[in-house]
Amino acid sequence: MLALSGLSAHYGAVEVLRGLSLEVRAGEAVALLGRNGAGKSTLAQALFNLGPRIGGGVRVMGQDVAGWPTHRIARLGMALVPQGRGLFPSLTVAENLRLATLRSPRGAWTLERVFAVFPRLAERRAASSSALSGGERQLLAIGRALLTQPRLLVLDEPSEGLAPLAAEEIILGHVARLAAEGLTVLLAEQNLPLALRLCPRAVVLAGRGIVFDGASEALRADHSLVREHLGV
Ligand SMILES: Nc1ncnc2c1ncn2[C@@H]1O[C@H](COP(=O)(O)OP(=O)(O)OP(=O)(O)O)[C@@H](O)[C@H]1O
Ligand SMILES: [Mg+2]
Repeated sequence: MLALSGLSAHYGAVEVLRGLSLEVRAGEAVALLGRNGAGKSTLAQALFNLGPRIGGGVRVMGQDVAGWPTHRIARLGMALVPQGRGLFPSLTVAENLRLATLRSPRGAWTLERVFAVFPRLAERRAASSSALSGGERQLLAIGRALLTQPRLLVLDEPSEGLAPLAAEEIILGHVARLAAEGLTVLLAEQNLPLALRLCPRAVVLAGRGIVFDGASEALRADHSLVREHLGV
């Protein structure tokens, strides 16, 4: 679904990622880990040609997407739940969702299905999205991404700013269920325990590149690597 080869990312003259290679296969759930500033969001955005200037190869669903505009990459079946959610605060829950359907292909995900899967959003459909709790806002951002009919969902720190129970419900409840149904997931997280419980495979970013790519079990057991690069 995703194949990066020798990916680099720059903000102006500042290089944030260098020579990064990564493959994600259909049906995988992969945790993307790293300290603050390690480049998780930069990598997530680079996949969509959002934000940084990128070099190297990016293949999505087998297609070389270098230089493609974001909406065209997304149409291949990849959606981003951005860090900080990126909702329209002046719109209601239903309006935020409807907006997502306007420019998306039709598919298995409909407004009704999003409301069925996230009953909390159905209850709050007429509420302004600025009036939602952090957890509800995260559900809305995920629901909105699903309405673009993705096969690969990229989530950028969905647990950020949430109470532990809310974070657990989102990642081990909702995202885990989507992954079990076959959605491919790339999960950027700082919450190591949650990310490793969801994802059988983990990738650790540090020093502009990947310092670990393997089984989550192996990462969990590698205390010195965890201490050095994830600061736990
Ligand atoms: N728009 C930008 N312009 C310039 N530098 C940026 C920009 N966005 C990020 N950076 C820098 O790129 C590096 C990687 O940032 P990035 O946001 O990708 O890290 P992250 O792993 O997502 O961190 P966090 O866990 O805090 O979200 C940091 O040094 C950051 O300061
Ligand atoms: Mg980030």
